[in-house]
Amino acid sequence: MKTIILNASPRKNRSTAEMLRSCAEGARSVGSEVEYVDLFDLSFTGCKSCLACKRKGAERCKCYIKDDLSPLIERIFEADALIIGSPIYLGNVTSCVFSLMERLHFCALSYDDYSSYFKGKVNFGAVLTMNAGRDIYEKWYEKSMEKQLASFRALNGRFELLPCCDTLQVDDYSKYNMAGFNEAHKKQVHEKQFPLDLEAAFRLGARLCSENAE
Ligand SMILES: Cc1cc2nc3c(=O)[nH]c(=O)nc-3n(C[C@H](O)[C@H](O)[C@H](O)COP(=O)(O)O)c2cc1C
Repeated sequence: MKTIILNASPRKNRSTAEMLRSCAEGARSVGSEVEYVDLFDLSFTGCKSCLACKRKGAERCKCYIKDDLSPLIERIFEADALIIGSPIYLGNVTSCVFSLMERLHFCALSYDDYSSYFKGKVNFGAVLTMNAGRDIYEKWYEKSMEKQLASFRALNGRFELLPCCDTLQVDDYSKYNMAGFNEAHKKQVHEKQFPLDLEAAFRLGARLCSENAE
């Protein structure tokens, strides 16, 4: 079993990364090998519409752009599970997830009949961190996130979203112009709810990487 975990937060040690490290532990607990990548360390763009992947004779499910993302795309198609962690930025996953989606899915899309060239199976999970509370997530973000990430269903495996709400954006709110947040509430959520979120992340990692995951 091979699991690829992608951190789509620019911060390497905050909530998203912590959640992903728990996913990694969960995956390892069921015997999966884990590759963890900070997407912000890589140099890449979205699809450049070179159409090299649509040329006659082109290899299927291969992105021909010469940058850091193309080899990762190849490894994703060969993996058993893919877990992406992204903060919600302005109601969306971060821009590097959009770039990845364009590249990953376009090179697997047949322009002959709009089917997918990808016939394998990669279980998919997304860990979504946000300032919003659970009520706002369920009311405003959940359906939109399912829609934004729906192209990962073309990986033919399980599709799961795990929200992590009301995150602690900074350690000391008094140092910032952030009066819109209640620091005491944020710290309480961090103390009580965040450890439960980390446990849920561990279970997600284990579930997506279990041999019998459907
Ligand atoms: C540019 C930017 C935009 C953000 N937009 C939203 C948003 O629309 N909704 C929300 O709930 N949180 C928003 N946040 C907060 C982050 O989603 C939240 O702090 C998240 O936990 C950050 O992940 P990290 O701790 O791994 O960096 C935003 C943060 C930044 C920096």
